[in-house]
Amino acid sequence: MKEDIYILGIESSCDETAAAVVKNGREVLSNVIASQVPVHRKFGGVVPEIASRQHIQAVLPVIRQALDEAKVAQKELTAVAVTYGPGLVGALLVGLSAAKALAFALDRPLIGVNHLEGHVFANFLAEPELEPPFLALVVSGGHTSLLKVTDYNAFSLLGETRDDAAGEAFDKVARYLGLPYPGGPEIEKLAQKGDPSALAFPIARLASPYDFSFSGLKSAVINYVHSQVQAGRPVVKADVAASFQKTIIAALVNKTIAAARAEGLTQIALAGGVAANKMLQKTLSEAAAAAGARLIHPAPILCTDNAVMIASRGYYLYKAGIRSPLSLNAAPALGLGG
Ligand code: KG4
Ligand code: ZN
Repeated sequence: MKEDIYILGIESSCDETAAAVVKNGREVLSNVIASQVPVHRKFGGVVPEIASRQHIQAVLPVIRQALDEAKVAQKELTAVAVTYGPGLVGALLVGLSAAKALAFALDRPLIGVNHLEGHVFANFLAEPELEPPFLALVVSGGHTSLLKVTDYNAFSLLGETRDDAAGEAFDKVARYLGLPYPGGPEIEKLAQKGDPSALAFPIARLASPYDFSFSGLKSAVINYVHSQVQAGRPVVKADVAASFQKTIIAALVNKTIAAARAEGLTQIALAGGVAANKMLQKTLSEAAAAAGARLIHPAPILCTDNAVMIASRGYYLYKAGIRSPLSLNAAPALGLGG
């Protein structure tokens, strides 16, 4: 009989301390997330030093709760998977130290996980039948990338943003409109009350077919609001939010569909915090269907940062015999597909 594999996942790269137990890569036994969002909200963004301190307070209780809820004893764990990058260095080191201590004490393998690959692997939880190859659009607070997933451990980067990440553009525009952090969900909410065709914002045209650029769009939105205020004209924030959201989604969708067609891929997976955006899901899903492809996206709780995705990614690394040394360090600038 095949032995079951239980992976404990630990995530602390930004402002969520999370732990989860996943059985055989795809069965979620627990998913505990301690969010620091309320702590950082009053500063309008994540304060790294505060994040590290919050992770230190939360990490052990969160791990304990994940094991309790999963009803899995420490000694039943097969391995410990942990995010080692990209992210805030002080924040990463907290989860990494806890994972190392546990792996050492239990004499179990330590598996370092790339946070961005984790986001992609959240899709295996969304759809048990999903198998590579597929195209992944990774849209988070720090990254925007198109990734070709040829196998569980083989990826190639097709394109990425030259400047701001999609989530960053959402957050910066939201901040300028006076909305709370994190701005993405706030823009989405406000956009529902606005007219997406009210304002025409430009999107950069790049020579490279699958790269993105959002800083010009962000500046155009900020300049528009500024000039309206200067001229004493009203700013309809809902129209600004809806028009901005429509423009950024169009850029994401057009490049993704072009890449899927060129690569002959008929499965497209969405990943990262911005993947929680319902309008992005709807627009990309319709465009995919029109191109003979289908869209897969994680449940909202698995789009934003969590440890289930880290445990799932860890499972496939474990199966491939990949282990990390206890000297594993944080890699704040770790990329994708390299
Ligand atoms: O993946 P994530 O939780 O953290 C990083 O790894 O960066 O992504 C966070 C980003 C933030 O920029 C947040 O504003 C954005 O995802 N986000 C959204 C939505 N929910 C989260 N952006 C647009 N619409 C949403 N519903
Ligand atoms: Zn993330």
